[in-house]
Amino acid sequence: MYWLNMVQNIYKNMLKASNKIAAASFLNNELTFIENILSGLKSRMTVVVVGCHDGMYYENIKKLRFNYIGIDPYINSQRNPHILRMSFETYAKKRREINKNKSVFVFWFNVLSHIDISVINDCFIGGDIIINSLWGNKEADINVRDEYYSAFNDKSQQYQTVFQAAKKSYSLNNIDMKFKTIDCFYNSPNYFEVAYI
Ligand SMILES: C[S@@+](CC[C@H](N)C(=O)[O-])C[C@H]1O[C@@H](n2cnc3c(N)ncnc32)[C@H](O)[C@@H]1O
Repeated sequence: MYWLNMVQNIYKNMLKASNKIAAASFLNNELTFIENILSGLKSRMTVVVVGCHDGMYYENIKKLRFNYIGIDPYINSQRNPHILRMSFETYAKKRREINKNKSVFVFWFNVLSHIDISVINDCFIGGDIIINSLWGNKEADINVRDEYYSAFNDKSQQYQTVFQAAKKSYSLNNIDMKFKTIDCFYNSPNYFEVAYI
């Protein structure tokens, strides 16, 4: 429980408005990218925002007339009924019960790096689309990333664990999974992958 509370506080701290300022270019690029991809889709699918914090992009996604499901294990969802308080690992196991619709999964702000990817293979169904937003690996990207990470000033062991995960910048190519196609886009400091199942 103690460990869980510590980790919860670390993620809350990572997403505090004052800390996100250092990652503003990443987040602005990300929102524009997600809106462009969703606007180009012919059918209005369900959008699942993974690690959604307090309902990340809810208004933007509703405005485009997509259904919204947010999942985050550390957020109390009373304020927004569209947020499920569970890890992606748990959601992946239950997906076929909870949500049978073809969906767009948005792994925002490098969240894929924080997930145990060994369990996610079963989650997706034919017709799903995965958008993965991660840090680029050029020097300029790493500089923005390190400036953001330096905002936390946390020396705890738990923070080091989360930080090591964050630094991985996990690509969809690291998952043992076949996609129909996967498109990649670079817009410093972001790297985006869009995979079609
Ligand atoms: C979007 S990530 C941001 C990570 C960080 N900014 C980075 O650069 O790596 C953080 C969010 O993901 C959530 N999260 C952490 N582990 C998760 C998991 N296993 N499943 C779903 N969400 C998770 C956290 O609660 C938090 O709201």
